[in-house]
Amino acid sequence: MSYEVLARKWRPQLFQDVIGQEHITQTLINAIKGGRIAHAYLFAGPRGVGKTSVARILAKAMNCQNGEPGIPCNKCRSCIDITDGSSVDVQEIDGASNRGIDEIRELRENIRYMPSSSRYRIYIIDEVHMLTLPAFNALLKTLEEPPAHVKFIFATTESHKVPITILSRCQRFDFKRIPTAQIISHLGKISQEEGIAISKSGLALIAGEAEGGMRDAESLLDQVVSYAGLQIEDRHIAEILGIIDRDLIFETCRAIIEGSPKECLKLIDKVYNYGYNIREYYNTLMEQFRNLMVSLITQEDHLLNMNEIDIKETRRIAQKAGFEKIQVLLNFMITREEDLRFSFCPRLILETTMIKMCYLGELLSFDDLLKKIESLEKRLIGASHSHALPESAQISDPTAPWKLEDREKGQAEVEIISKTDNDWNDFLNYLAGKNKLMFNILKDWKFLSLDEKVLKISKGNQSFSSKYFDDQERYNQISGYCRDFFKSDIKIKIVVNNQPHSETWKEPVKKKQYLRHKTDKNFPPPVQDIIQMFQGKLLEGDSATK
Ligand SMILES: Nc1ncnc2c1ncn2[C@@H]1O[C@H](COP(=O)(O)OP(=O)(O)OP(=O)(O)O)[C@@H](O)[C@H]1O
Ligand SMILES: [Mg+2]
Ligand SMILES: [Zn+2]
Repeated sequence: MSYEVLARKWRPQLFQDVIGQEHITQTLINAIKGGRIAHAYLFAGPRGVGKTSVARILAKAMNCQNGEPGIPCNKCRSCIDITDGSSVDVQEIDGASNRGIDEIRELRENIRYMPSSSRYRIYIIDEVHMLTLPAFNALLKTLEEPPAHVKFIFATTESHKVPITILSRCQRFDFKRIPTAQIISHLGKISQEEGIAISKSGLALIAGEAEGGMRDAESLLDQVVSYAGLQIEDRHIAEILGIIDRDLIFETCRAIIEGSPKECLKLIDKVYNYGYNIREYYNTLMEQFRNLMVSLITQEDHLLNMNEIDIKETRRIAQKAGFEKIQVLLNFMITREEDLRFSFCPRLILETTMIKMCYLGELLSFDDLLKKIESLEKRLIGASHSHALPESAQISDPTAPWKLEDREKGQAEVEIISKTDNDWNDFLNYLAGKNKLMFNILKDWKFLSLDEKVLKISKGNQSFSSKYFDDQERYNQISGYCRDFFKSDIKIKIVVNNQPHSETWKEPVKKKQYLRHKTDKNFPPPVQDIIQMFQGKLLEGDSATK
């Protein structure tokens, strides 16, 4: 007996067998039950998610002589012929190889005839976007006034290439990628029925590679079976798919978060010796940092695309590291991704990136800083009977360059009306002479407020410029310019702003000297403690020095 590939063998034959497209199948069932069948449907969506399968089920349901409405019997002549692809009344046409006007003309000739033994003549045109323009035009006429016995089902992976005139004459359904969890459970069912022994984590590896396509998932399972036989181990899958071993990824995450460059170098060596592709390894690692972040935001496991054991470990590592650290590390990885992709020496880039990440993590134990502040606050409250806390005791915050306020809320902080617009404009003017690129970026950003300690600006909307100061070096550079211009250690706060910008740079009016630096040794000891601990400077402290 010849071997039938899984994807074919497991083609759904009923609407309820189609996975992950319930929004479509249910609508179609209802339409058939209600006798409201459109004369043309367009099925759009990625590869291997069920378009052709649903088209065939729909054709069967429209022509089936037995079954209930919406449920083809799969036993009558019409159903069997459609399943075999031998039906005279239901024709599947490949748009890619029948793209010309002649083929469509022929189709137009044929549709005049009544169906031979069914209710409808149905044309399923796959990859319809491949038709030529004259062919589309010829089709348009037919679509405008189709005979009552003719139905069309078009399928495409690139709906944007289908002319709007055609689109507007079809009822459109958008097929979605199938959620990984559903692919895993479907592959589990197939394995069981086919006598394939495979672990859940193995299925998750395959499903993860398939990126939402059921056909790809089934083909990968086929591939693994032909490699390893019916007893499949996870390492077989990793080998054949070139998938990076999960344990290795977890080990790397831990090494980075614990700040161990030595361990990182060892792991990279291992990756290299296994023969893994360095870029793929990096991408998988980046994905895992994304998972760590997601695991702290939501309890919805299906957003993590992995099996239960890995989810547990992911949540554990994430809890330990904390949100701030993971986000900083992930952002840093994203900025380095392009360097790695285009580099001739990816290993070197990988090593430098990971070493830097080890130190970034160390620098940014933000939670620890918060704890220190909290304990100091408590001590201060105790000491505050005689001394008030100076509002302007400035804390130098090592996470400042990456700390975008209101990030989670995505809220704009635009209410503050400042009287120092001119200072900002003066500064921009000064910057124009120093660093043209920075000037060009900042002139479109919104100035929010400026006082002795803090300059608050909000990001521009363009994605390139909005990330410009995420880079620490650039942040330091702009801080330097600020220091030089305002003659003061001003901290720059960048906030996210979703609202349209109203103010932009204006020509300078006047130049002026900014703040005096003020020092005072007469602050209460706890304040001195803070200053020392964070190596900050005290700029203004009127309320405290009274
Ligand atoms: N939603 C689904 N539920 C169950 N199986 C599916 C689903 N989608 C795809 N499959 C499996 O993949 C195979 C191919 O699916 P189908 O031909 O319907 O995909 P398609 O969307 O038409 O892809 P293409 O764009 O490449 O033509 C099916 O035979 C079936 O085994
Ligand atoms: Mg198809
Ligand atoms: Zn039937």
